[in-house]
Amino acid sequence: MNFTLTLLPGDGIGPEVVSEAVRVLEKISSKYNHSFNFQERLMGGCSIDKYGSSLTDETLADCQASDSVLLGAVGGPKWDDPNAKDRPERGLLALRKGLGVFANLRPVKIHPALVAASPLKAEKLEGVDILVIRELTGGLYFGQPKKREMRDGKEYAVDTLEYYDYEVKRIVQLAFELARGRKKKVTSVDKANVLESSRLWRQVAAQIGSENSDIQLEHMLVDTASMKLIANPASMDVIVTENMFGDILTDEASVLAGSMGMLPSASLGESTVGLYEPIHGSAPDIAGRGIANPTGTILSTAMMLRHSFKLENEAAAIENAVDETISAGARTADLGGKLTTRQMADEIIKHV
Ligand code: IPM
Ligand code: MG
Repeated sequence: MNFTLTLLPGDGIGPEVVSEAVRVLEKISSKYNHSFNFQERLMGGCSIDKYGSSLTDETLADCQASDSVLLGAVGGPKWDDPNAKDRPERGLLALRKGLGVFANLRPVKIHPALVAASPLKAEKLEGVDILVIRELTGGLYFGQPKKREMRDGKEYAVDTLEYYDYEVKRIVQLAFELARGRKKKVTSVDKANVLESSRLWRQVAAQIGSENSDIQLEHMLVDTASMKLIANPASMDVIVTENMFGDILTDEASVLAGSMGMLPSASLGESTVGLYEPIHGSAPDIAGRGIANPTGTILSTAMMLRHSFKLENEAAAIENAVDETISAGARTADLGGKLTTRQMADEIIKHV
């Protein structure tokens, strides 16, 4: 089959990890007879430098017209001025919104050989296999009003946490569908004891729960969920939650896996054009040194093959190759090893 992919390597270590993921896709294309046509575009700080905008209309249109988008990471100290007109992160949010990818899937699994790399006790990590589904195009990130102004001589700022019922419905429904292929359990995370938006969230989730009695639904407050994730992570399976809660909980959950560098993500919407990216950031401290772990980005391409292209065997081939590579002892610096980004990718490619 034929696919056009837009590559948005972005800033910091983004270009280093994306180019290795492309090599893995090239191996897949020769082994399974697909053709991937890559078009590279700027997004983030690099796009501000070149075009004065973190995401241009042309780049968004190219992403929308392609079959899928692979992103590295955006941001860095160079673009951190709080008074700047544009920021790399704005481009990322506009891209998510522009692609309509309302569901961000962040799976957290721990390879048995990496248990020692996690700060948690080994016995807590046994059997951990979590899928966090984070709402990605609503909530505090996009709600209006969102602004700063002077009010009665005082500086004032506001962000708005808003949700429509349909936004909750479509993501909770997706959580139920995905739970059906797993342990048939969904934990819906909210703050319904305080927030009106969470009371709507819980009401909609409960309604979907009553229509899908084959799936066990539990509601959990976000503070409790953050504790459970560390105290008893093996008790969690599918977690579905609003944008900001999901942002925070997924960074916390990533600690379980030993290194953020291991973890992929997929952002999906109504169309098949998905946005795939590792969950780590641009890591300016190690950028340009060729030592970043490419695994999270490589595993993101596996999610792309599965969710956007429906190529389950090819996706599994990448995931198995990563498992075997880790089992064989290959480690980048974040995991206490010595392999470079290129060498780690070479090992994974050998196992595909
Ligand atoms: C993430 C990141 C982004 C977010 C930032 C870079 C805007 O933290 O993807 O989790 O908050 O969504
Ligand atoms: Mg985050």
